[in-house]
Amino acid sequence: MTPLTGDLLGRTDHLGLLITFEGPEGSGKTTLINAIAAHLAEKGEEPMILREPGGTEIGERIRNILLDMASEGMCSETELLLMVASRAQLVREKIEIGLEAGMIILCDRFADASVAYQGFGRGLGEKQVHALNKLALGKVEPDLTFLCLLPPEEGQKRLHSEATDRLDRESADFHQRVYEGYQAMAVSGILRFKVIDAADTPEEMLNKALGHLKRLDHGLLKYL
Ligand code: TMP
Repeated sequence: MTPLTGDLLGRTDHLGLLITFEGPEGSGKTTLINAIAAHLAEKGEEPMILREPGGTEIGERIRNILLDMASEGMCSETELLLMVASRAQLVREKIEIGLEAGMIILCDRFADASVAYQGFGRGLGEKQVHALNKLALGKVEPDLTFLCLLPPEEGQKRLHSEATDRLDRESADFHQRVYEGYQAMAVSGILRFKVIDAADTPEEMLNKALGHLKRLDHGLLKYL
């Protein structure tokens, strides 16, 4: 597992903070983001909340193409390129500006999702994904990445109803490979990756995440 760009916490030179949330379907990352945002809001800090694919007007249009059941015939390479296209737009339009302005940005999935889903899940390999991610990211890199890990069969159970998008509908094998991709990140030794056990309650997940944020020792988090 090679790092996105750097692998040490605190090496980024922007004023703000980019915190990304990753994990398989049903791993509770969106609930965790909302809980952290509510906690920050109580402390008077209004984070920017983004999601991928999407997060911009153009990105949301790309998201619709990606997730639409009617896109069933999409090949893996197109899928990767569209994920990266949405990411490039998000980085240029929102993330770079937010970081320069000193904002805390919470992003629901980011570049590592392409490594897990397209690199591992589709079998396109980490190397190709990293090269394309580099183009989209430029100098941007996450300060911290929470990996909300839950075995895929548990995540699928939590989704209860029928699959609502093209990727949810993928085979159990595909979701197993995605999970293995995230597990590889968890044991990679790259410091920005922090594992959150998604089998824990939402409160336990929040407390664990806040503990990691406090240890980040960044001026923006001084009131946590
Ligand atoms: P979500 O908003 O429910 O997380 O849906 C986004 C879907 O897109 C999810 O199945 C994961 C997938 N995805 C990728 O396959 N590659 C990526 O790079 C990203 C950001 C998401």
